[in-house]
Amino acid sequence: MDKLIITGQKRLHGEVAISGAKNAAVAIILAAIMANDVCIIENLPHIEDVECLIETITNMGVKCDYIDKYTLRIDSRNITNSSATYEAVKKMRASYYLLGALLGRFKKAEVSLPGGCDFGSRPIDQHIKGFEALGATVSIEQGMIIANADKLVGATVYLDAASVGATINIMFAAVFAKGTTIIDNAAKEPHVVDTANFLNSMGAIVKGAGTDVIRITGVEKLHGSTYMIIPDQIEAGTYMIAAAITGGDVRVNNIIPKHMESLSAKLAEMGVEIVEGDDFINVKANIPLKSVNVKTMVYPGFPTDLQPQMVALLSTCKGVGLVTENIFDNRFQYVNELNRLGALIVVEDRLAVIEGVTELSGAEVMATDLRAGAALIIAGLIAKGKVTIGNVKYIDRGYGYIEEKLRALGADIERIKG
Ligand code: EPU
Repeated sequence: MDKLIITGQKRLHGEVAISGAKNAAVAIILAAIMANDVCIIENLPHIEDVECLIETITNMGVKCDYIDKYTLRIDSRNITNSSATYEAVKKMRASYYLLGALLGRFKKAEVSLPGGCDFGSRPIDQHIKGFEALGATVSIEQGMIIANADKLVGATVYLDAASVGATINIMFAAVFAKGTTIIDNAAKEPHVVDTANFLNSMGAIVKGAGTDVIRITGVEKLHGSTYMIIPDQIEAGTYMIAAAITGGDVRVNNIIPKHMESLSAKLAEMGVEIVEGDDFINVKANIPLKSVNVKTMVYPGFPTDLQPQMVALLSTCKGVGLVTENIFDNRFQYVNELNRLGALIVVEDRLAVIEGVTELSGAEVMATDLRAGAALIIAGLIAKGKVTIGNVKYIDRGYGYIEEKLRALGADIERIKG
């Protein structure tokens, strides 16, 4: 397995371009197979999760061809089966979008229970509740979720948790349901809005995405479309934090600054100089920074997907920072690895208490999931000595060209092929 080796204490400077959003891409690729037509998806990130999904739908008879490095042509006119096995979906959580997409288009779907990053219990009861409200019968047999419907009829679905996955999945199934579906307490994340915009570009009628209430009026069919994915809010945030921890001066390009507000505000509170342009943010820091408290929340609150990176940053700040994880029940598993680098972090249930240290030092550590891996890279950038990170496959799931991008900013990072 590949390893990343970082020799830290290099101040990052220069410019970095952010890729298309992972969590929009994985939904949009599967939305495209609802069209029974040809879609062109632009600004696709070069990451393992995308490759894995392309392989999954290719095995189902969808024709996928890259037009250029970041543009994919998806022809879903000849889907041969509506089932995706464990082998196909075990690596990624987003495979659950196949349920809504296939149920919508074929009125039946068989998809293995999803894999993906492990940070506690990750139920899909709200997805299932939504499908059932629209008239589907859903059962779980031998690890497969099986959904069937004679017809789908619009309904009102109140989500107990503002779940990204459930919101998008119910939106998918509702696109072809008769009448209007209302999703109440819907997730408002930028990738939910992007997915709704893509559905609308194919002829769907989805209104209210980005608010608590989404209304979907069913249509008979969708048509192909050409669509550009939004920039990745979490990749952008990761580079902003990387710049801050090294006392760097980095312009993060090709982003939507509005999506970064919760992070920008926190960094400013810590003493980082943030300058926003139309599609970039410049981050300039003098270290050590001041500690702050952070609580993860649904959008527009501070994203759980930047929590580990923020904890890494706080581990080198002056004072004590408190981080509360409100979205997932076990998303601090990586903290032991940060402590191996000399961080002083104590976790009690959903609260991490981070006492800033003056220096992190090199050691061998393992990424326990995607964003945990990003946090270890961030810590490695400022640690004294060499940090060797194992389990890089997790990082590759969501960050394209990470060594190249960091090297261009002055980091000393190399990959050892395993
Ligand atoms: N939840 C339920 N029941 C459900 C669904 C969710 O109780 O049926 C709860 C979860 O247990 C959790 C909360 O609702 O406490 C939020 O979960 P959500 O469904 O929003 O998460 P997800 O759809 O599984 C997506 C992203 C994650 C990101 C979360 C939160 C994708 C493919 N994944 O996951 O991204 O952390 O939303 O914003 O979009 C990542 O990119 O590293 C990543 C993990």
